[in-house]
Amino acid sequence: MRAYFGRRYRISASHRLHNEQLTVEENRATYGKCNNPYGHGHNYEIEVMVGGAVDPATGMVMNLVDLDRVVRKTVLERFDHANLNLDPLFLNLVPTTENLCKAVHRFLKEALPPGTLERVRIEETENNFFECSGE
Ligand code: NI
Repeated sequence: MRAYFGRRYRISASHRLHNEQLTVEENRATYGKCNNPYGHGHNYEIEVMVGGAVDPATGMVMNLVDLDRVVRKTVLERFDHANLNLDPLFLNLVPTTENLCKAVHRFLKEALPPGTLERVRIEETENNFFECSGE
């Protein structure tokens, strides 16, 4: 039987939704207030769900200390208190939370033991949330 363990992390970061391929008017029409040239910030909540067999020796799917270490190194140290637009990842990619979620999923999938990452969910505001799972 597969069991699941979820843990929640928090980062504060700023972004501006802007696509260099679009005109000023198209950017404004697409992104509205989020295209404001000075950017704006969010307190993102990042939920990471891992799954696997419960280790009979520890009684755990994954030790939270191990998960914390991976998330801290690959996600929190990179994105907490950052301007997402200045991250190399977003030089040619609009820093929407969809794209942030995809990147976090990819980084964690690479860093965690194979087959353990179930999904990543990011809450951007109390009304908006995004999820990534699978490939
Ligand atoms: Ni925003």
